[in-house]
Amino acid sequence: MLCKSRLRIWLTASVAAFVLLVINANTTPVFSLDNGLARTPPMGWNSWNKFGCNVSETLIKEIADAMVASGMKKAGYQYVNIDDCWQVSRDSSGNIVADPARFPNGIKALADYVHSKGLKLGIYTDAGTMTCEKRPGSLDHELQDARTYAAWGVDYVKIDWCHTEGLDPQKQYAKFREALAQCGRPIVFSICNWGEKQPWKWGPATGNLWRTTGDIQDKWASVLKILDNPNQQHPESAGPGAWDDPDMLEVGNGKMTDTEYRSHFSLWSIMAAPLIAGNDLRTMSQATKDILINSEVIAIDQDPAGKQGSRVKAEGGLEVWTKPLKQKGAVAVALFNRDNATADITANWSEVRLPAGKARVRDLWAHADRGVYVDSFKTSVPSHGVVMLKIINAK
Ligand code: GAL
Repeated sequence: MLCKSRLRIWLTASVAAFVLLVINANTTPVFSLDNGLARTPPMGWNSWNKFGCNVSETLIKEIADAMVASGMKKAGYQYVNIDDCWQVSRDSSGNIVADPARFPNGIKALADYVHSKGLKLGIYTDAGTMTCEKRPGSLDHELQDARTYAAWGVDYVKIDWCHTEGLDPQKQYAKFREALAQCGRPIVFSICNWGEKQPWKWGPATGNLWRTTGDIQDKWASVLKILDNPNQQHPESAGPGAWDDPDMLEVGNGKMTDTEYRSHFSLWSIMAAPLIAGNDLRTMSQATKDILINSEVIAIDQDPAGKQGSRVKAEGGLEVWTKPLKQKGAVAVALFNRDNATADITANWSEVRLPAGKARVRDLWAHADRGVYVDSFKTSVPSHGVVMLKIINAK
């Protein structure tokens, strides 16, 4: 009798477990990315724009120190990312080897140092046979490399697309998604295939961010080219955990004016872009620092609703960009003057998706309230500059 009832219980439990398994298998897509990371656009620093291949343990440690000392950590910057050229070979077991001359204590010790500062470490690889700088790529070593990064304590990996002849990015990057899911450590996954094969379509299910364009350069024309690239116009794909990436920041690298760098930073924030600084944090000017740590502009980029903003009006070189915010009745607006002379630009509430009537206007670079305006706000904007605003309905 006892035996029979036990059997019944066992059978019922087994059937229930089976049913749960089937339901789970049907409702949880096996391959969707759900790593809980980058709920707002990642903020940090990367070595490439300023240092190229000239990376080392000393540089990365000093940058981590400077990130803390400059107030950038306090402003929200978190990731210290080593780009190409840290790796030199594979050992006889196929494990990736860091350059022993430049990283004499290895990546694990460096990760420990960066973590001791309350920051996180990022690393770089390539989906193909070699990186763009001809270092070993990760092709056919996806899981092995993911495990190595996890064992070292890496928190972020950017995966490039050089030397990938004949490979399909959606398939290759999905291999890394699976590898990272199995490696036992939360690692932000940054896809870098320059917008090829429409990553805004498959990127959200694959990685946390995906490049939409070619490489940025420290030139005004390059910033404009990225803003105008139709690849960058996919706000529907962005949201918590998944971001269009118009490339890293050039703020402070010297070939643009501070006014232009302010525009670059403002528009990246309107686009909910990752804010990955690319300058020398150890020696930056006060003006550069003031741009990178403007908490009011950063708050727009990091708005928890995670909506990517876009251009809503262009009259010649005079543009209005806007980004919806989580706060009810509030939007961010950038009045952007691409022309060569100062000009007035008007934001009409109807264009920036605000209800008609009164709204309070705050200037996020001047850190000043401008007062209450009805239906529109007009102001003078310097050549190549922005006036960045937060406008809140005042009913
Ligand atoms: C490019 C990438 C850059 C940088 C460089 C390194 O493909 O877009 O951001 O990572 O490779 O070689």
